[in-house]
Amino acid sequence: MSTDDKRFYITTPIYYVNDKPHLGHAYTTVVSDFLARWHRGDGFATYFLTGTDEHGEKIWEAAQAAGVDAQTFTDQISHRFRDAWQRLGVQIDDYIRTTEDRHKSVVSAFWQQLHDGGDIYKAEYEGLYSIGQERFVTEKELVDGKLPIDSDPPVHRKEENYFFRMEKYRPWLIEHIESHPDFIHPAGFRNEVLAILREPIGDLSISRPRDRVPWGIPIPWDKDHVTYVWSDALLNYISALGYPDGDLYGQFWPGVWHMIGKDILRQHAVFWPTMLHAAGVPVFERLLVGGYLSGDDGRKMSKSFGNVLDPFELAETFGEDPVRYYLLRELPYGNDGGVGTTGLAKRYNADLANDLGNLLSRARKLILGGLKGVLAAPVQTDADRELIAAGEGLLAAMRAQVRAVRIDSALEEALQFVRALNRYFDSEEPWKLARDPSGAKRLGTVLYNVVEGLRIVATLLEPAMPAKCQAIRTALALPDSDFLSTQSWGGTQVDTEVPKKAEQLFPRAQAAPAESAAAPKEEAVGESDGTISIDEFAKVQFRVAEVTAAELVPKTDRLLKLTLQVGDEERTVVSGIAEHYQPEDLVGRRLVVVANLAPAKLRGIESRGMILAAEDDDGKLAVVELPEGFTSGAVVR
Ligand code: MSP
Repeated sequence: MSTDDKRFYITTPIYYVNDKPHLGHAYTTVVSDFLARWHRGDGFATYFLTGTDEHGEKIWEAAQAAGVDAQTFTDQISHRFRDAWQRLGVQIDDYIRTTEDRHKSVVSAFWQQLHDGGDIYKAEYEGLYSIGQERFVTEKELVDGKLPIDSDPPVHRKEENYFFRMEKYRPWLIEHIESHPDFIHPAGFRNEVLAILREPIGDLSISRPRDRVPWGIPIPWDKDHVTYVWSDALLNYISALGYPDGDLYGQFWPGVWHMIGKDILRQHAVFWPTMLHAAGVPVFERLLVGGYLSGDDGRKMSKSFGNVLDPFELAETFGEDPVRYYLLRELPYGNDGGVGTTGLAKRYNADLANDLGNLLSRARKLILGGLKGVLAAPVQTDADRELIAAGEGLLAAMRAQVRAVRIDSALEEALQFVRALNRYFDSEEPWKLARDPSGAKRLGTVLYNVVEGLRIVATLLEPAMPAKCQAIRTALALPDSDFLSTQSWGGTQVDTEVPKKAEQLFPRAQAAPAESAAAPKEEAVGESDGTISIDEFAKVQFRVAEVTAAELVPKTDRLLKLTLQVGDEERTVVSGIAEHYQPEDLVGRRLVVVANLAPAKLRGIESRGMILAAEDDDGKLAVVELPEGFTSGAVVR
């Protein structure tokens, strides 16, 4: 990508169609989609390509095993990948399949050119071949007789192949990598490639005999051979643009970011640039190498290990945007990391349900209750400056992280701003302003600022969660806004009327007891009509409790620590009612406590029981109370 003319081309690996899409594939695709959407939002002419890799031995064997002809087989699986990306809200510009004519003609012309230029020769090859990785391997790479990534050992092969004089370009490639520090990212992978290049890399076998592997693109000067799958697949990145003279090629090549997993580093960092250079084509701008997602057994998530998570199922359970958010937020790009539904539920509850979702619903309640649903003109004070500066600076802060491919940190910047909005909300106590006739002006300002902050968040988190950010705008009646509009506070219209009803955006997910059972449902209900039996009800013990002491839990604005006398027992209960009661107002009152609730630790305090309170749609809250004269400890039925 060139920063001066703001063009951005981004690609994923094209996926083999011998496997159905799993979360590992989804990871690279979602990261790429995020980067494409981000750059599009940030004013770049953007082109996002993905697709499927459909030739070669592995696919041929998989089709045979499925008992269908190879084209029918590849058609089916290619569609599954496309459907998965649609299900995950991935917005692509083009979907390339290597069995398309537009691709095959580029592959033929490309190798013909190299052949004509003297860079191709024929020779006998003898060695060990990994069918899993579709490449020859050396003894040195094997652990216990096989590649660690493979489930089967390599096979012995002896055959005639055409070779590309790759070794000849090794000095050039070393020089190119050394003089372009951003060419391979992160740096650890750059060093790995430089280490590979310290020793001869040999020449690259680019063909297979047709009688052994019939499923490939014919070598144009010798129809008894077909292209080796990698000498076919890598060219997708330019065939899709209409190389050599298509408009898109002229517009977008070579300013491309290739997103790949580390399993295909050598092919992209060694084969691909030498191929391009030999053909006189400028090499790609950046190779961005991601780590592995591992399954619950700690190994790379892959079909052969049987530890894959299904992106369709996860999207059904959690919604596509939380899945996207989790993949983007959880691991620094380039690192390996374990993923699962427990982690997803945890991340979802912390960032989305608690921080973002609660803020939105608290703000909406007060706008509807305290401002009759219509935003008022703000009168900013010194107390608002810090928040405004943070909001106006968010784009620049996130942009710096995104350009450095620290997507997790970019999202964390946005979440830190959401947390600042929550702190602002809590410290301004708008629920009190709403009860005080002289607080109307300040109430209007505080709520305006919270909505404006949410507008900025919904704009800049859109590349991560497109549908949810749209839903935030709907819940606040905000128009679409562009990235640049976030740099000046005040994009929200003053007379905006907030809709009375809105969907609950991020209902809490149940912490997954098993990897699959998490569900972000609102509240669990017993039977389908929500009733419970008398026996079930009888299990709950309600008792009268007298408040003997109350204090704010340090560093929170919503939690009160209550000391309760329940009969002759004293107990502590932490309750989220601080926005509605001053601690001293509660002392001496007789409340109703759920007495046999399992203890829970809140902010380090063991809370034993729960106070009953009523809350209406306007955010008004009142504790359930008994008149004087009731002794503490009395049972409530
Ligand atoms: N067809 C080749 C790529 C050709 S590109 C010109 C291929 N396909 S693949 O279906 O095996 O997909 C590989 C890519 O899927 C990886 O490079 C990575 O981007 C992604 N992933 C597959 N499993 C993954 C994990 N468990 N973790 C992270 N990414 C993974 O190789």
